[in-house]
Amino acid sequence: MAAPDQYVVIGNPIEHSKSPEIHSMFADQIGISIEYKKLLCPIGDFSKVVSEFFASGGRGANVTVPFKLEAYEYSMLRSSRVEHAKAANTLLSKNGVIAAENTDGIGLVRDIVGNIEFPIADQSVLIVGSGGATRGVLLPILEERPKAIMVVNRTPEKAYQLIKTIEVEANRTGVDVASGGLLDLDDGEFDLVVNATSSSLSDELFPLGTNLLGRKALAYDMMYGKEETSFTKWAQHAKAHKVADGLGMLVEQAAESFFLWCGERPNTQAVMEILRSG
Ligand code: ATR
Repeated sequence: MAAPDQYVVIGNPIEHSKSPEIHSMFADQIGISIEYKKLLCPIGDFSKVVSEFFASGGRGANVTVPFKLEAYEYSMLRSSRVEHAKAANTLLSKNGVIAAENTDGIGLVRDIVGNIEFPIADQSVLIVGSGGATRGVLLPILEERPKAIMVVNRTPEKAYQLIKTIEVEANRTGVDVASGGLLDLDDGEFDLVVNATSSSLSDELFPLGTNLLGRKALAYDMMYGKEETSFTKWAQHAKAHKVADGLGMLVEQAAESFFLWCGERPNTQAVMEILRSG
């Protein structure tokens, strides 16, 4: 019997990663055998570690914080999403050529539109944060044709730079786009607020006013954890109609990576239920 294909998730830190568990559930569903491990990569050694993995016969890798930009730089073939985000979370060896994809945005959109059943089309979207997480999801959100996208950030200049990267496409498709600081927001304006900052990890209050949401608003935290985050607490105070964390995004982005590697679409609902109950 042939040895199973080898996959890894590369990051630093990496102990917390649920990817091995998720991908092994996907493989069981489809009835294939894969080996998927966590790979802790020292800062500064990304290209060495990833080269060794692929040279030893590795077939695919997920890449997480803080290496998504290095994964983009390392890859030889890049999708348009990777080119736009300048970040990759999925690498695939195709006859020795390393191809890169970014499945984060597809994962977010599938969770919001498919699982939560909240259509983004014609809605006013607020994205908070302007780091790599926002870069990965901005274009896929724009492709859903919302009414408007505003990106705000503690450092407004970074939000401005990000919005510039989608301005042409937004003009072409009739989506209003704007950027600003955390306090440049009007009351009652937003139908969907996505937290793409890393501030949920801290205990600080989430830095937004509590009158921003429209009546049926969804507040979505790209972070996932068992505990309430500063963002989900804010969302309760802001009377969000619905609050969601990033577990669905995590599973959906994994499913898209799995599809790229194995050509099969796993049942994500079943995996989400197991993770929620675990
Ligand atoms: P990632 O790649 O995960 O997006 P990042 O590039 O370090 O990480 O970006 C983190 C984001 O969270 C940034 O938008 C950061 O704001 P600044 O650009 O002003 O640094 C935001 N962020 C982090 N901590 C924050 C806090 N306590 N309040 C508000 N924004 C915060």
